[in-house]
Amino acid sequence: MIRKGIILAGGMGTRMSPLTKAVNKQLLPIYDKPLIFYPLSILMLAGIRDILVIVNKGQLSQFKKILSDGSRFGVRIKYKEQMSPRGLPDAFILGESFIGKDNVSLILGDNFFYAQSLTAKLKESVKLNSGCKVFLHPVKKPELYGVATIKNKKITQLVEKPKKTKSNLAVTGLYFFDNKVIEYSKSLKPSKRNELEIIEVLKRYLRKNKLKAEYLGRGGAWLDTGSINDFYDTSAFVSAIETRQGLKIACLEEIAFNNEWINKKQVLEAIKFYGNNIYSKYLKDLL
Ligand code: DAU
Repeated sequence: MIRKGIILAGGMGTRMSPLTKAVNKQLLPIYDKPLIFYPLSILMLAGIRDILVIVNKGQLSQFKKILSDGSRFGVRIKYKEQMSPRGLPDAFILGESFIGKDNVSLILGDNFFYAQSLTAKLKESVKLNSGCKVFLHPVKKPELYGVATIKNKKITQLVEKPKKTKSNLAVTGLYFFDNKVIEYSKSLKPSKRNELEIIEVLKRYLRKNKLKAEYLGRGGAWLDTGSINDFYDTSAFVSAIETRQGLKIACLEEIAFNNEWINKKQVLEAIKFYGNNIYSKYLKDLL
């Protein structure tokens, strides 16, 4: 069972500069909320309440202003600074004492997920006792991602940003690991791009026949907000769905309230915290 999650929300943000010179990318808006609300909502939908947020050196106070200790939406948030973007597996090295002897989930701070029955798939994924589970989704440009080749529903090969590949299945930025992930991450050497590579960690599990694949499904959306165009596309997606359905994506207090992690009084306190705006109005309607 996985009860702990890490959000990796650092990175240089160079592709988004000058927007990211003063503000971390994960705090920029996706329609009506900061980007980090979306990956955080995924962990919460999975039922994970112990969360470590890894941020860039010097950016802790920005994140604390909006997320604080997580109690506003019924979770416990701890923070850790990453001195430089050493790669995704650094999350498990920096997070070693947070993880302890437990299993852990990792979500990248710039990843957006929306799919039918996603909550059920997440709840199933946190049942993991040993091994690793990843979510795969088709993309038009696999060369930008970690790519998995599948045979008889099983992953047979993994490559990071392949120049040429027959597979269009990207490994998304949502992972579920057993505790061995710490040991595997610590033994990695930096790649050609001078980073510790998550794909190398996944390969260890693959070699031991301990890597499982899950799918968002054809109707699902996975967007990684790597560039400014992705930001606007993702915002447009959220705006279209929220306006049409009148239901918000990644409203943290709504998820917490439905999970019975917070009560009416706490929702009212959240409304006070946000002030007078559409997000608060939505919370009021919820009550
Ligand atoms: O988005 C999924 C992809 O994420 C996977 O398919 C790839 O296998 C994986 O390597 C990764 O690819 P990217 O090269 O696109 O990751 P990127 O460097 O853009 O970092 C992803 C997020 O993690 C971003 O929000 C910044 C943050 N980050 C990244 C690094 C390397 C950190 O906080 N610290 C880091 O050291």
